[in-house]
Amino acid sequence: MTKPALLSFHKNGVLGLDQLEDHFDIIKLWQEKDPEAAIQEHKDNIVAINCTIGQFITEKIIAALPNLKIIATFSVGFDHIDVKAAQKRGVAVTNTPDVLCAETADTGMALLLATAKRVVEGDMYVRVGKWLNGDMPLGVSLANKTVGIVGLGGIGSKVAKRCEAFEMNIVYYGPREKSEYSYPYYADLTEMAKICDFLILTCPGGEATANLVDAHVLDALGPKGILINIARGSVVDQPALIAALQGRRIAAAGLDVYNNEPHVPEEFISMDNVVLLPHIGSATVETRQAMGQLVVDNILAHINGKSLLTEVK
Ligand code: 8YV
Repeated sequence: MTKPALLSFHKNGVLGLDQLEDHFDIIKLWQEKDPEAAIQEHKDNIVAINCTIGQFITEKIIAALPNLKIIATFSVGFDHIDVKAAQKRGVAVTNTPDVLCAETADTGMALLLATAKRVVEGDMYVRVGKWLNGDMPLGVSLANKTVGIVGLGGIGSKVAKRCEAFEMNIVYYGPREKSEYSYPYYADLTEMAKICDFLILTCPGGEATANLVDAHVLDALGPKGILINIARGSVVDQPALIAALQGRRIAAAGLDVYNNEPHVPEEFISMDNVVLLPHIGSATVETRQAMGQLVVDNILAHINGKSLLTEVK
């Protein structure tokens, strides 16, 4: 008897898909010469999809798979999935929250420290021998400064905890005030940016937050302000950010995410007041292992008729 098929857009990180091999024919799209043809060939048999960011699961793909039951993404973000179209068809969507929050918050802190303390510049200063000619320019302190967290969710709250340890003042912006936190809440992002030394973006991507950080917010942050983005490139008006950095209307930026990854605008690459990472927020062996296991456990829960562990509602 033919097994149901799992359409896999993604290797499932370091864990792989071995645990699912007894249950599914696994269509490894990244190995297929003609991915479209592979989907066509198996379309009636596909009951599950495994994907990650940048792999767009559109209404068209969902409609083309009549027996699809579950889409399990190897990411906390699900802005690459048409969740409404899936839910309308009764297809469950699962993601990987919680297991990556501390890791991604750590990446945010790495960027915060790297920009404030000019770590990357300092490394270069030593390597090219500039130190022999004198000290490099001074950095700025974190202690007693105000950090504004945009989106106090799973990752944002871990960033807040870490910033507390660095003796920073914390404020936050989001769609609603959260009674479980005592940090001051701002319903207006520009108003919050005015009082911030650092702005850290940890909110979800997607339509609701597209270009949330625009020229007004950047100008409110001001010439001493530093922007850190560990959320999605789409949250920032990228041309406005480039202009603000070039004109020194903000001091610096630490970026892990961009529009149209893995393409990074030449302007960022040539600037000395930007620290650039290749979207490594969750990229450690331990965290990628845990994310992969959560993908597998959600799919196994589905086939065993159990409640899904982390369903996107
Ligand atoms: C990616 C992320 O999943 O979880 C998210 O939403 O952006 C990342 O952790 C990771 O880069 C794997 O593609």
